[in-house]
Amino acid sequence: MHISLATLATLLPLLPLSSAQSSGQGKTTRYWDCCKPSCAWPKKSSAPSPVKTCNKSDQPLNDQGNTRSACDSGGTAFMCSNQSPWALNETLSYGWAAVNIQGGNEASWCCACYELTFTSGPVAGKKMIVQATNTGGDLGNNHFDIAMPGGGVGIFNACTQQYGAPANGWGERYGGIRGKNECEGFPAALKDGCNWRFDWFQGADNPSVSFKQVACPAAITAKSGCVRQRDVIDQTPTGPSTVPTWTP
Ligand SMILES: *[C@@H]1O[C@H](CO)[C@@H](O)[C@H](O)[C@H]1NC(C)=O
Ligand SMILES: *[C@@H]1O[C@H](CO)[C@@H](O)[C@H](O)[C@H]1NC(C)=O
Repeated sequence: MHISLATLATLLPLLPLSSAQSSGQGKTTRYWDCCKPSCAWPKKSSAPSPVKTCNKSDQPLNDQGNTRSACDSGGTAFMCSNQSPWALNETLSYGWAAVNIQGGNEASWCCACYELTFTSGPVAGKKMIVQATNTGGDLGNNHFDIAMPGGGVGIFNACTQQYGAPANGWGERYGGIRGKNECEGFPAALKDGCNWRFDWFQGADNPSVSFKQVACPAAITAKSGCVRQRDVIDQTPTGPSTVPTWTP
């Protein structure tokens, strides 16, 4: 279909944001450090509210994002346990991740959602939609560090302070625990997310992904509390049906 530039200009505001959305090939790792995620600070993106955090007892802080992270000295904001991954069915899971997208920055990715299609390991072909809630200086380009309890604390560790985890977190500092049996000793609030790794995720070890940005499912943003402006695909129909029929 041919559309003149002038016509296209009038239609652009009505189109979904697909042209600005990112996609590509990426890699994954895993972590759960119990720290306040970086997108939980105010005004990291277009989202009016930052990612929710919790106090040491895993209760939501109503602080507009101003409490210092438990991973900084004297800080009292932790990651909420309900930002753990879960399976909707055999082929789709939802969750959260620390990300670094090539060519982007926190303003472009904080609270954006990405559909990951795993391309290696036992989960190849399965999909996971993650919302970016965090970032990290140690992440490479197109890197999704998927949040899963027991995945290793990495550089920072507030799990010892919050849950009495061992000094380097549960299991190895990088990579975390090795088997589902170790989830049994976890705090109740983190057990389901810990088990997810060995059930739905099949113990996959840093599988590669192809990814594309998508509108965030409401089930994800209901838990994180963070919704980017115009990230509205769940509320309105999208695609050709919202674009007026073009007539020559
Ligand atoms: C966490 O917040 C809840 C609800 O406001 C409060 O009852 C509880 O004492 C707080 N826990 C800590 C350790 O601050
Ligand atoms: C899994 O759930 C998603 C979202 O509800 C749905 O689109 C998809 O068809 C489901 N897949 C299976 C295998 O049930």
